[in-house]
Amino acid sequence: MTARHPELLRYRAEFPLLSATRYLNTCSLGALPARGRAKLDEFLGQWDRLGASAWYGHWMDELAALREDFGWVIGRPGSEIALAPNVSVALASVASALDPIHRGDKGPPRTRVITTALDFPTLGHQWLARAPLGIEVVILPSPDGLTVPLEEFEAAIDERTALVATGHVYFTTGAVQDVAGLAALCRERGALLLLDAYQATGLIPTDVARLGVDIYVSGTLKWLFGGPGNAFLWLRTGLREALDPTTTGWFSSARQFDFDVGDLDFAPDGRKFEMGTPAVPSAFLARGGLSLVREIGVEAIHERTIDLGAQLIKLSDGAGLPVRAVRDDTRRAGIVAIEAAEPAPIVAALAREGFVVDARPGIVRFSPAFYNTEQEVADAVAVVARLLEPAGR
Ligand SMILES: Cc1ncc(COP(=O)(O)O)c(C=O)c1O
Repeated sequence: MTARHPELLRYRAEFPLLSATRYLNTCSLGALPARGRAKLDEFLGQWDRLGASAWYGHWMDELAALREDFGWVIGRPGSEIALAPNVSVALASVASALDPIHRGDKGPPRTRVITTALDFPTLGHQWLARAPLGIEVVILPSPDGLTVPLEEFEAAIDERTALVATGHVYFTTGAVQDVAGLAALCRERGALLLLDAYQATGLIPTDVARLGVDIYVSGTLKWLFGGPGNAFLWLRTGLREALDPTTTGWFSSARQFDFDVGDLDFAPDGRKFEMGTPAVPSAFLARGGLSLVREIGVEAIHERTIDLGAQLIKLSDGAGLPVRAVRDDTRRAGIVAIEAAEPAPIVAALAREGFVVDARPGIVRFSPAFYNTEQEVADAVAVVARLLEPAGR
């Protein structure tokens, strides 16, 4: 069984982690590429040589370049991007602009935010915390534990719905959302669509405008191979102008370096939704991962990753393991799970054999990436098959 783009295996040499472990956990944390370390060293060197002058000579340019990189990965100019240290801060910024959430609406107030049982907790928590403002969070169930069908959204989105906030790819199941269908539904019913694309960015080719999304958040931990400390927010043109954040900081100012405490004039571009001093070392680090993704291209990364997932499913099926994954390659991203009543001992046993994978309630979660080999996938399945056999499953 050969995955497409075997030529990408030449990049393995850039990732020391891949010779230290058999790494199948990119959906939790992408491996560190050598060029990420080199970028971080570049930052440290500039700090040592230049002190504060590094801000104007290098670091502001690096932040602009990071916005460009993020823009590239979603098909937009960097000027439309707001940097954030993590998705939660990005969400807080945009949520503050929607308080009270029914602002500007005609008709009855729209006080509902819809999310799903499969979404990452920070997405629901952001609006649960706003219950004192009159916001009600509706959590749609997943009938099959893998996906949330469009019909669930169709039944729930109504004239009370201000926002649908959900993932592009669900973080435990790897299922790809029908974003275009959802966007059309939201548009038709007057609700905004916010996409948490953390498990998709850098892995699924994305043109955010074509998808019809209103608000997009993501970060660098996983499929951008950029480590912690960087996320971003994008709002479609028109909405960006219409919304004003009430949680803010001086990086959002149109005249940041006027240092005028009495004047709050938001930048007309994506920076409007930024806060304070960004995590510059993280920005350098992230540019290493992003340069790799830009060099390879998301298309090839996607094809190889999907093929390795398909191989994992096929081998697990063959070994009689209880696979929990979307079977349709076009609707699955970078995650395949195997059900286990007690996943932790299996993850620990795999670790003893050099594998890095993750446990989530009821599953062992695998996420081979473009840099993994077919052999690593086959060996992992063989270990799980051996471990689950005596228990009689
Ligand atoms: C879908 C998804 N959203 C968000 C996050 C992280 O959010 P934050 O950047 O606020 O830690 C993750 C993983 O860490 C995730 O998988």
